Amino acid sequence: MIGRQTYFFISLLTVISIFSCRNKEEEVECLPADPTPYTVVIPPFFPPMDIPADNPMTVEGIDLGRFLFWDVQLSADNSISCGACHLPEAAFSDNSQFSVGVNGAVGTRQSMALVNIGWARDYFWDSRAATLEEQIHDPVVNPIEMAETWEDVVSKIEADPIYPPKFLAAFGSTDVTELRMRKAIAQFLRTLISADSNFDKWRRGEYILSESEFRGYELFLKEGGDPEVVVGGEFGADCFHCHVEAGMQFSDYLPHNNGLDAVFTDLGVGGFTGDPLQMGKFKTPTLRNIELSAPYMHDGRFSTLEAVVEHYNSGGQPSETIDPFMKYTSGGLTLSPQSKADIINFLKTLTDTSFVNNPAFHNPHE
Ligand code: HEC
Ligand code: HEC
Repeated sequence: MIGRQTYFFISLLTVISIFSCRNKEEEVECLPADPTPYTVVIPPFFPPMDIPADNPMTVEGIDLGRFLFWDVQLSADNSISCGACHLPEAAFSDNSQFSVGVNGAVGTRQSMALVNIGWARDYFWDSRAATLEEQIHDPVVNPIEMAETWEDVVSKIEADPIYPPKFLAAFGSTDVTELRMRKAIAQFLRTLISADSNFDKWRRGEYILSESEFRGYELFLKEGGDPEVVVGGEFGADCFHCHVEAGMQFSDYLPHNNGLDAVFTDLGVGGFTGDPLQMGKFKTPTLRNIELSAPYMHDGRFSTLEAVVEHYNSGGQPSETIDPFMKYTSGGLTLSPQSKADIINFLKTLTDTSFVNNPAFHNPHE
């Protein structure tokens, strides 16, 4: 039988052995790590966010992810961070047609906006990454982006004194690994939530859409075409089939061919899967904060929203894989100048300045 005193003594020894550290380096390891669970607040009318069971969000994980997202050490010559091509003021996209990577390398695709990315799926313009954790591997090693190896990144981050305590706080030990970095960055990306645009405020009853904005919204949701020519036509703009409002992201996140080209220079999803039925199809992007993330499309070919709406109004270029929702067969949408302006005014109600100005998302190294 263990007496009360002995029991107390054993407990004391255990406590001492947990907290006692011989040298400074071990001291960091010995601090008790207890990451604080972080609960995503789901905005009104948004569906739940799909968070992988093996990467629960924590305050410390998000903090680490933010430091890594903004760290130039992820690139070969320590010149660019993820944030260099995903700038807050551009809705975490880039206002140049093609972003410039390490050593001035220029790609062929426009940077994608990172807005409510936790609700998106099948990442990249060609939908090639199934999860965010998987997606984050790519930019580091991509020769036209950060052109670095994860091995080097691990060594650099290990050697930077700000990081061991952050890994300890987020993951319970100071070990720096690629997987932990990807998990932390994914946690940070899932906090990039935009839900305070005039459109959101209108849905919550805190804003009244102007007449033009409301007409634009209605056109957005109506079937395109003259009912005499197209079955079910409503003279609308027919945007909602692909940029679906349900879920509040204005995207179905599925690949479609929206009629940009008759002959494809970039094969899109087909280039990745080899499937002839997927040639020229690209992931449908969200339209949230679209006013801020020009230029538009996977190759940034349109510099204004006017040009985008003109593209859809024209009906687009016919091709084998063009989406049935593109009404080119009936000679375009025949929208009036006023209707085009209304659609653009509606799109601008999706701008959320409190999102882009949120200091919690900005560079913590500055
Ligand atoms: C040199 C510019 C550049 C850098 C640096 C960069 N990106 Fe990107 N990002 C892009 C481009 C361009 C695309 C689209 C590429 C494609 O589709 O092939 C993209 C796509 C993405 C997407 C997909 C979004 C979606 O909706 O599918 C995510 C997420 C992302 N980047 C996160 C990151 C993270 C995290 C880092 C840092 C580890 C990073 N990016 C670094 C330019 C960059
Ligand atoms: C058939 C599905 C479909 C329809 C219909 C459609 N879109 Fe798109 N939209 C897409 C796809 C797919 C892309 C990306 C295409 C690419 O880059 O190759 C896109 C891109 C865009 C972009 C650029 C986004 C960016 O981040 O660069 C805007 C803006 C846009 N669409 C607005 C509209 C509007 C407004 C309408 C209605 C007039 C509309 N779309 C109708 C599928 C569609």
